[in-house]
Amino acid sequence: ICFKLTWHHDSKIGHVCMQLQCGVLPWSGSTNSSSSDSFLGRLWAPLLRNSSSTSNATSGIVNVARKPEGAGRLPPGIVVSESDLHLRRLWGSPTKDTPVRKYLLTMAVGYKERANVNATVQKFSDNFDVVLFHYDGHTTEWDDEFQWSKEAVHVSARKQTKWWFAKRFLHPSIVAPYDYVFLWDEDLGVDNFTAEAYIDIVKKHGLEISQPGLDATKGHKAYDVSVKRNSGEVHKTDAGGEKCPDVHQRPCSGFVEVMAPVFSRDAWRCVWHMIQNDLVHGWGLDFNFWRCVDDPEEQFGIVDTQYVVHHAVPTLRDQGNGEKQGSRAKVKDRQYEEMHAFDSRMDNADKELANSTARSSSQP
Ligand SMILES: *[C@@H]1O[C@H](CO)[C@@H](O)[C@H](O)[C@H]1NC(C)=O
Ligand SMILES: *[C@@H]1O[C@H](CO)[C@@H](O)[C@H](O)[C@H]1NC(C)=O
Ligand SMILES: *[C@@H]1O[C@H](CO)[C@@H](O)[C@H](O)[C@H]1NC(C)=O
Ligand SMILES: *[C@@H]1O[C@H](CO)[C@@H](O)[C@H](O)[C@H]1NC(C)=O
Ligand SMILES: *[C@@H]1O[C@H](CO)[C@@H](O)[C@H](O)[C@H]1NC(C)=O
Ligand SMILES: *[C@@H]1O[C@H](CO)[C@@H](O)[C@H](O)[C@H]1NC(C)=O
Repeated sequence: ICFKLTWHHDSKIGHVCMQLQCGVLPWSGSTNSSSSDSFLGRLWAPLLRNSSSTSNATSGIVNVARKPEGAGRLPPGIVVSESDLHLRRLWGSPTKDTPVRKYLLTMAVGYKERANVNATVQKFSDNFDVVLFHYDGHTTEWDDEFQWSKEAVHVSARKQTKWWFAKRFLHPSIVAPYDYVFLWDEDLGVDNFTAEAYIDIVKKHGLEISQPGLDATKGHKAYDVSVKRNSGEVHKTDAGGEKCPDVHQRPCSGFVEVMAPVFSRDAWRCVWHMIQNDLVHGWGLDFNFWRCVDDPEEQFGIVDTQYVVHHAVPTLRDQGNGEKQGSRAKVKDRQYEEMHAFDSRMDNADKELANSTARSSSQP
């Protein structure tokens, strides 16, 4: 069964309120929706019984209510709840504008890294809409040098991180048309990477969250599992690795790093909800991406035949420089603090969920 669900979890009082809409379940990966015994399944049951829902056993889709929140005053036929990041013309018929692309490439960039960004964008076909997030205030300069820049969306906010931008500008309803969303850093070497070939492999192996393998002979590596192998198209675990006595634990499986993740539409819908508004560095997210798919050990993968080099240019930490309170060391301190904050929020949220599940199942 397939639902669209706007999920609001007020952590202070452990209160859960839900609104049901028609469509797809944004949390689709995060719960085992095939299990009728799931927490959400139990929560939905009374709502669904009372609502004017129409069940379609053939399609498996339950239409619960047609209007998203805020659209109640409008006739349903005029409501548009999704958008895209595709440029349109000011003239001509809208129906003849170039169509929205199938995939989305987004990168957080500084002008200093433009040569590498250009090289990266060249590896992505016309099937991609491109969004550049500028953290250094330089935007129009890109148009002077790169033809493709004129067809890209440019978003500028000084000294902000990729995750800050992603939370604000990649809402699931805005990236809804794209089958895959690339959320990439600017410092990746892409000599041995082509985006279309990458997507073919991701589709073939059913990967919901993936990254290209890292060529550790040339660049930086943080985890063994993300290092490119020579044995096949993809690998999913670091089974047998010296740091992976338990292959079911992160980062040994169900894991990709934050520098070059690729998300399916459904996985991104979930990940977007997990990004904390105030925690801008995104530290700790990678160890929790697994929550956003049904079967992390199968639906995560590192693509070996399309691989990149991680140059690890510490551009972000340098952004702290020149500000009284923002030395490199202080940026680093905040990164660690955020990681601890995220971990403890996740821990509490898990406990609250377990508590409310226990409560709801103890009710008659
Ligand atoms: C559904 O109906 C039951 C019994 O009539 C009621 O107790 C419950 O509050 C209703 N739930 C909703 C969401 O309306
Ligand atoms: C159920 O869904 C299928 C496939 O979308 C459609 O062909 C069929 O007409 C629907 N039936 C009803 C009763 O809505
Ligand atoms: C951008 O990259 C392409 C392919 O690598 C290259 O041919 C082109 O000269 C680059 N553009 C600029 C302005 O450097
Ligand atoms: C990777 O790219 C480099 C530079 O273009 C090239 O020399 C090398 O042959 C490529 N490796 C593979 C395995 O294609
Ligand atoms: C989801 O539930 C189904 C049916 O109960 C089960 O076969 C499957 O292993 C579960 N998947 C996960 C990831 O828990
Ligand atoms: C969960 O419930 C237990 C017992 O009722 C309580 O001690 C604990 O503080 C609760 N935890 C959370 C996170 O709400």
